[in-house]
Amino acid sequence: MPMLYPIPLDAWDGALPSAESAIATDALEAGHVLFLPNLRFELSEAEVAYLNPRPSSASADPARAVIAVHELRALMGRFAASTRALLTALLPAYKIGLHQAETTIRPVDASRRKTDTRLHVDSFPRQPSNGKRILRVFSNINSDGRALVWKVGEPFEAVAQRYWNDLRPPLPGERGLLATIRMTNGVRSRYDHYMLKLNDALGHDPHYQRQFESTTREFPAGSTWVCFTDQVSHAAVGEAHQLEQTFWVDVGVLRHQESAPLRVLESLAGRKLA
Ligand code: CO
Repeated sequence: MPMLYPIPLDAWDGALPSAESAIATDALEAGHVLFLPNLRFELSEAEVAYLNPRPSSASADPARAVIAVHELRALMGRFAASTRALLTALLPAYKIGLHQAETTIRPVDASRRKTDTRLHVDSFPRQPSNGKRILRVFSNINSDGRALVWKVGEPFEAVAQRYWNDLRPPLPGERGLLATIRMTNGVRSRYDHYMLKLNDALGHDPHYQRQFESTTREFPAGSTWVCFTDQVSHAAVGEAHQLEQTFWVDVGVLRHQESAPLRVLESLAGRKLA
């Protein structure tokens, strides 16, 4: 089961001895969550006020709304830069294969997809990964001290083996058609097809979902955590303010390529999938 691997860093641009970053990278690739209990993402008073509007001061004032959007952009830009600095110290082995993607703040600008509350591994229906890993950095920015809770499931290999025989292969022409009608941004790889089917199988298995009802991990307010969300099956319990930064990681820079979901599914399929 995914464990929390604690790292005592308390500054976003802090340094880590290389022996420690190697051990942390191994823990991450083994499907654990790097947990930084002392790494708080600081918010200004204005940002806290914006995220916690008093019921009477709703955003009826258009000038205030414009300022808020501006502040929100600045906040997300700061988080993007901070997480980039953090991963440079934490995962130096990934340097040439690490690509920064979206910054998100929840629940403000993204309606939580229904699947997020069910156990799943991350996989994007519209944006094929072509086998790249999805690495995410999260910060709990609740001002009221509320912890963020995740349910976590079995290791990826176990989930993949359990459902592999139920996953239907892509139909002839299916992946090309999805790209032509712009349902996907480029042609979906076989790997992406199987990852989405795996999530369908997992999400629609109430018995499996119930099994992990009490297997939870808590992330207190003011903490930060990093994990391969394409590998660690997870589900959000309840709502809380959190910042999320997504990175793509090339499989080629991993210390243990065989742990990548791409390699796990390829060994089940007996062929290349991306
Ligand atoms: Co997710």
